Amino acid sequence: MPDITSQSATGGLTRNAIFLTLTVGPREQDLTTVRELLGDLASLKRGVGFRNNQAGLSCVAGIGATLWKRLSPGATPQGLHPFREINGVHHAPSTPGDLFFHIRAMRPDFCFELATNIMKRLAGVVTVEDETQGFKFFDDRDLLGFVDGTENPTGQEAIESVLIGDEDKPFTGGSYVIVQKYMHDLAAWEALTVERQEVIIGRHKLSDIEFRDADKASYAHNVLTNFNGPDGRQLKIVRDNMPFGSPARGEFGTYFIGYSCEPGRTEKMLDNMFIGDPPGNYDRLLDVSRAVTGSLFFVPTEEMLDRIGAGEPAVAGGTKSGT
Ligand code: HEM
Repeated sequence: MPDITSQSATGGLTRNAIFLTLTVGPREQDLTTVRELLGDLASLKRGVGFRNNQAGLSCVAGIGATLWKRLSPGATPQGLHPFREINGVHHAPSTPGDLFFHIRAMRPDFCFELATNIMKRLAGVVTVEDETQGFKFFDDRDLLGFVDGTENPTGQEAIESVLIGDEDKPFTGGSYVIVQKYMHDLAAWEALTVERQEVIIGRHKLSDIEFRDADKASYAHNVLTNFNGPDGRQLKIVRDNMPFGSPARGEFGTYFIGYSCEPGRTEKMLDNMFIGDPPGNYDRLLDVSRAVTGSLFFVPTEEMLDRIGAGEPAVAGGTKSGT
């Protein structure tokens, strides 16, 4: 049985995060630099994280569909494809992203230090598509004032929701991550009554208690993102959304991040939100919150990262890549 060490996709929720989305230059030497960084990522993480274990530093690296083919020709994870734009009642754009780093810690300096080291190693070979520095806000609330993350699966259920199993054997232990950056129109949100906001989310604002099913609107956020698979069990994802913003510039947002063992369930949640279920019965959160980015990445296991770092295909059956 080969060793399988998943990256910390289900990883504990922390107070701080940096989300880095990068694209990689066209040269072979750009790929070589990226390979070396991916192979050394675990060591970089240890170097920064060991300075205080209580900071709980973790980092998940994701690889987009185009870069995957360049780094590891041969087998491709079944669910890996570019993020699909959605043109529904509201628009979910698909934006560029070859490499994604989800850096989390209980202290912002640890996130900052690791991000700095990653960017030093990638200087001159990547373009930064987005850097978002997120933070937890009072009682794990988003900037709309609602507690965000309550219904996340935990323990074994989180592992089963997030990690690829036997259904795509070569990639067992890997995962998928979908990210979107949302900008809120806070003035429009605050113009709504709290009662109306609660109908939109499907929970009480102050107490975080969920509405009874019979009392939920058909378009409530927690109705449109809640559905079952063929076995009758709810198809869950693990989210670790973070607020971000700049009061001086009037920017307030939520960085959405959802891990899953197959991206289809997250994509269905998005269809339900943006197009509606049935079409037209869309998520009213989107009337005040606009998606400005959208990307999908495969999250390799640590062993796959090591093999990519050594210039080998990530899984057996691929052909040896580049230098
Ligand atoms: C639940 C906020 C985007 C999937 C929730 C809850 C809040 C919230 C406050 C209720 C508490 C909880 O269970 O966490 C937001 C905000 C978003 C956003 C502010 C962006 C502006 C998304 C997106 C997806 C998603 C894009 C999926 C593609 C879910 C799921 C739940 C949830 C699966 C749990 C539903 C349940 O089973 O009760 N979200 N969300 N959210 N959200 Fe979001």
